[in-house]
Amino acid sequence: MMPWRGFEALVPYWGGKRKLCPRIFREIARVHPAATWSSLRLVDPFLGGGSVSLYAKAHGFGVLCGDQAERSVIIRKALIENDEVRISDDDLLRLFVPAEGNRALIESRYVPDCFTEATARFLDNAFAAAEEVGDETKRHLLRLLLVKYIYWLRPHAQFSSPGAFIRDNDWNPNAFDAESYPKLVASIREKGILEPLKVMPDPEEEGRFVLVHGYHRWRAAGELGLDEVPCEVWEISAEEAKVRGLQLNYLRGQPVPRRLAELVHDLHRTYSVEDLAKMLPWSATQLKDSLELLKLPADLRERLDRQAQQEAAEAPVPVTVVLLGQEHTVFQEAMAAAKQALGKGARRGQCLERICQGYLAGEGGRDGG
Ligand SMILES: C[S@@+](CC[C@H](N)C(=O)[O-])C[C@H]1O[C@@H](n2cnc3c(N)ncnc32)[C@H](O)[C@@H]1O
Repeated sequence: MMPWRGFEALVPYWGGKRKLCPRIFREIARVHPAATWSSLRLVDPFLGGGSVSLYAKAHGFGVLCGDQAERSVIIRKALIENDEVRISDDDLLRLFVPAEGNRALIESRYVPDCFTEATARFLDNAFAAAEEVGDETKRHLLRLLLVKYIYWLRPHAQFSSPGAFIRDNDWNPNAFDAESYPKLVASIREKGILEPLKVMPDPEEEGRFVLVHGYHRWRAAGELGLDEVPCEVWEISAEEAKVRGLQLNYLRGQPVPRRLAELVHDLHRTYSVEDLAKMLPWSATQLKDSLELLKLPADLRERLDRQAQQEAAEAPVPVTVVLLGQEHTVFQEAMAAAKQALGKGARRGQCLERICQGYLAGEGGRDGG
């Protein structure tokens, strides 16, 4: 049997009883068997998001419902009282025709905090155009559609089952931090997820989201069996998501060098290294050094990768040192000499290692010789 998908007609609503409906109606069935429902009327004076009324209607009840809130009135008129009116393509097109009663309220109040100027203008006009529709039910259906569109655009308080609607991205360069993860799980068990995860609409599947930031919280939520996780939806491209993920992740985890290098390499198709250096917490030289990792043979890269995952703390990372004038001159001379000795294709890391080896074997060596 196909699962009942009626709730998809509604908009997200705090305090909605969607999940409780089967239980509520099981209890009702103990007093009034399901076979009698079509002869009964359910009174729902606090309609809210409409789930109880809609479920009751779909299961045969006559429904009498009300609510003081305007959003609930839209649902009542569009979905509960309405049995046959549908909106057509022509009705939809009316939303794009300039409407006289447009008061530009959304544009004046919610740009740029919630909407871009273009979206706000469309919404202002569309709501005004919907008001001009003569048929009351259609008017409410169009308003409901616009409210759904707003939630689709900015479902900031979207709560969803961690595994069902969100998938991990395949570009997160962070290493799994074995030590702090159990602490995170314990904190989420006790206090829940305090800061919403950042997700973006999945470009491959409508209605699903890809994680931009918050992998460990998402994973912990799954392990703890949480039904819901708070998410903030960012309407951004995959490239922007990668940059933002790097900006945010740098504050916490330690990137796995090879994965970071691959990501930088990937972003390098869209941005120059210099532009990336402006956006990310690494200098152009560090980013170029990072890219050098990709020149390593595949088996060595894999080994580094495994090592980085198992021992995040000991994983090889690009080293950053601050050198003052004279130090820098000496460093460059030594690097040039090492490069000459090792051959043109030598990486900076190999050159540095050669210099260090010379130092250890020479005057600053372990035995002080
Ligand atoms: C928790 S919601 C109901 C949720 C609903 N059963 C659902 O599943 O979505 C409570 C609703 O009661 C409405 N409400 C509160 N006081 C009211 C009143 N005095 N008259 C009418 N509605 C009221 C609120 O506007 C709100 O929509």
